[in-house]
Amino acid sequence: MENMYSKTARYYDKLYASKDYVGEVQRLISLLGVESDQKQLTLLDVACGTGLHIEHLRRHFHVEGLDICPELLEVARERNPDTLFHLGDMIEFNLGKQFDVITCLFSSIGYVKTLDKLRSAVRSMAAHLKQGGMLVIEPWFTSENWHPNTVHALYIDEPELKIARINTSFVKDRVSVFDLHHLVGTPEGTEHFVEHHELGLFAVEETISVMEEAGLAVKYDPDGLTGRGLYIGKRKGLPNKPDAGDGK
Ligand SMILES: C[S@@+](CC[C@H](N)C(=O)[O-])C[C@H]1O[C@@H](n2cnc3c(N)ncnc32)[C@H](O)[C@@H]1O
Repeated sequence: MENMYSKTARYYDKLYASKDYVGEVQRLISLLGVESDQKQLTLLDVACGTGLHIEHLRRHFHVEGLDICPELLEVARERNPDTLFHLGDMIEFNLGKQFDVITCLFSSIGYVKTLDKLRSAVRSMAAHLKQGGMLVIEPWFTSENWHPNTVHALYIDEPELKIARINTSFVKDRVSVFDLHHLVGTPEGTEHFVEHHELGLFAVEETISVMEEAGLAVKYDPDGLTGRGLYIGKRKGLPNKPDAGDGK
């Protein structure tokens, strides 16, 4: 079945070339307080896309990735040939193993759309954490900071690739909705296609309580890695076992 990102997968890295993946991973490492280059800790990057964070995360962790889009995973595998990637839906997955750290970055969590599916996704991710393990979620916008009826554009101008990507942002109930119109020109021809996106606008308190319900002690950093905020949830110990930590 065609996925939302199927058509743009081969242009993804160019469309997001201005994103500072190296700097984001450095900030993440320092927020988590992980020793550099130890590689003893395991990390699962959920909604990993083309594996751009993984390329840098794998210097510090033993990393695996998961995404719902086969075409993006194909690029991720080319970039990180020694890394294990899983095709899966973050709303419900079972890899049969647990990790020290799970990340879900660049607002991918918004694609779950509803609070019920957010609960399910966070439960799935938390169930893949070891005791004391950390779940790091970089959120999408909230209703307060999403500005509907605004128009946006991005242009790529290379000798053999021209892209104009234009969209108007809307809101429907508590979901942000936008169609990314792509006009893509290469020496082979020019095509137009539309990518439809719908992402849930969850309040900070909602996300924190969903993570707490999943057994995590949560800290929220309003700046995070890119200014979009960051939730770090630490999996608590079992009731009859010593607590692995309180997340503070
Ligand atoms: C904005 S991209 C971010 C990709 C990558 N984390 C990055 O920072 O470049 C959003 C990603 O979420 C993935 N995605 C959307 N819904 C998903 C789902 N239900 N389960 C797993 N991945 C999903 C998309 O395929 C895409 O790779």
